[in-house]
Amino acid sequence: MLSVLMIAAEAAPYAKVGGLGDVAGTLPKRLAERGLKVSVYLPYYSQIRESGREPEMMDRHFTLRHAGKARRVRVGREVSDGVDFFFIEEATYFRRDGIYGPHGGDFPDNAQRYSFLVRAALAAAASDRLPDLIHCHDWHGALAPVYLSYGDAAPGWRSVPTILTIHNLAHQGVFDAGIFPDLGLPARAYAPDCLEHFGSVNFLKAGILKADYVTTVSPTYAREITGPELGFGLDGVLAARGGRLVGIANGIDYETWNPRTDLSLPVPFDGDQLEARERGKNLLREELRLDPQRRSPLFTFVGRLVHQKGADLLAGIIPGMVDNGLQISVLGSGQREIEDRFRMLAGSHPGRVSVTIGFDEPLSRRLYAGSDFFVMPSRFEPCGLGQMIAMRYGCLPVVRRTGGLVDTVFDLSADPEGGNGFVFDGPGEIDLREAVTRAARFFRTGDREAVIKRIMALDNSWRHAAGLYLDLYRKSVRAAPEGPSKEDTDDG
Ligand code: ADP
Ligand code: GLC
Repeated sequence: MLSVLMIAAEAAPYAKVGGLGDVAGTLPKRLAERGLKVSVYLPYYSQIRESGREPEMMDRHFTLRHAGKARRVRVGREVSDGVDFFFIEEATYFRRDGIYGPHGGDFPDNAQRYSFLVRAALAAAASDRLPDLIHCHDWHGALAPVYLSYGDAAPGWRSVPTILTIHNLAHQGVFDAGIFPDLGLPARAYAPDCLEHFGSVNFLKAGILKADYVTTVSPTYAREITGPELGFGLDGVLAARGGRLVGIANGIDYETWNPRTDLSLPVPFDGDQLEARERGKNLLREELRLDPQRRSPLFTFVGRLVHQKGADLLAGIIPGMVDNGLQISVLGSGQREIEDRFRMLAGSHPGRVSVTIGFDEPLSRRLYAGSDFFVMPSRFEPCGLGQMIAMRYGCLPVVRRTGGLVDTVFDLSADPEGGNGFVFDGPGEIDLREAVTRAARFFRTGDREAVIKRIMALDNSWRHAAGLYLDLYRKSVRAAPEGPSKEDTDDG
């Protein structure tokens, strides 16, 4: 039985800010179903404690010296669907308001917090059987291969193959070089072939260079990030990994995202009960205080209100959409100025525009289920889960042709028989407006029922992706002794 140790900053349902939480919560379960032994390590954040989920605290506790202090670690554990979720408890780092920082910002010691997570996870796991493979996620987990190569990893651990998955290249874990001594690594790890990048410490770069394989969350994004436009300064480093950089498109959890069994919906439905969907839509309008206009389509945005997601472009076209008789609902939080802009739009268009600032999963579910169109004007999108969740709930995506959206959404105008949404190319409001106009026309004149049935029947589950990860795991385990990460590791 292949055993995998995962390290991530989020894993749903325990901690979720965005899609990383979905992936790190679900992929392990789909792998466990295929017979793998998967352990996931994440911080024991205050939110987990406050949610009433008290993992069983294990006898495992130890002290780890990190960033100039001896730190007491306790390890909690919860078994869920055959996966061991382990929680690293350390009061000063993880008992705080917010996961990454207050109000969508960052804590000033995130370098120390997440390097600590990795070290503590490796130390906690050292008393278990050696895993066959370590799979770490994003910059938060990216130092795992570095600690194996240069750090104080237990004997045997250095030869464990590692896979790093990049969920978003825009977040690299870049810090002032002054934090380097806090990481507990030998001086030679601060070099261009590891952590140093133009005079700063860059966690993700080090992981990219030291992991045996680097994956990202869609084939298109894997290609895009080797170019200057979306490479965020690491395109050269990524391109140099050649065939060791692999794109695997995410799936979504078809058990939790299921409109037939979703307890958040007032009227559950499936593809054969579209009148039930319609009733849910009317109830949603009441809930959001939108006018009960049966003939106007409802466009929805759910997501982080940040530049990446192009939420500002949507804000820009809302007045025109309202003039054309469309309704809009928005759920999200993020940059203060984008939040304020949406609040103002809701204030000036009562009954037509509904805005909820915050994180509200049950409401998100009713929005996916009760809206006609899901708008994702992302400037870049490593994979995107929103568009896949929307389709599962019979809501047609309107997306920019970028990243994982290219791999999952196919334009209905170009392919009326096989399409599943509306896709636009350009970077501006004009392009988004044109796609929204096409969607609205389709609402009035297209064969909506047939298309909704079609998109609800698509298979965007983890079945396919889990198989691809498994293949890659097998390949890395077979290739382990030749892996690039554990070379010249004598002075750790
Ligand atoms: P990203 O990870 O870049 O934020 P994804 O589309 O991959 O984008 O995943 C976003 C996930 O977070 C989806 O499950 C989406 O439903 C959820 N989500 C985002 N914002 C909110 C919110 N304000 N309330 C509830 N769920 C949200
Ligand atoms: C990131 C990306 C998103 C992706 C998610 C899960 O947050 O922005 O596109 O779907 O990770 O991999």
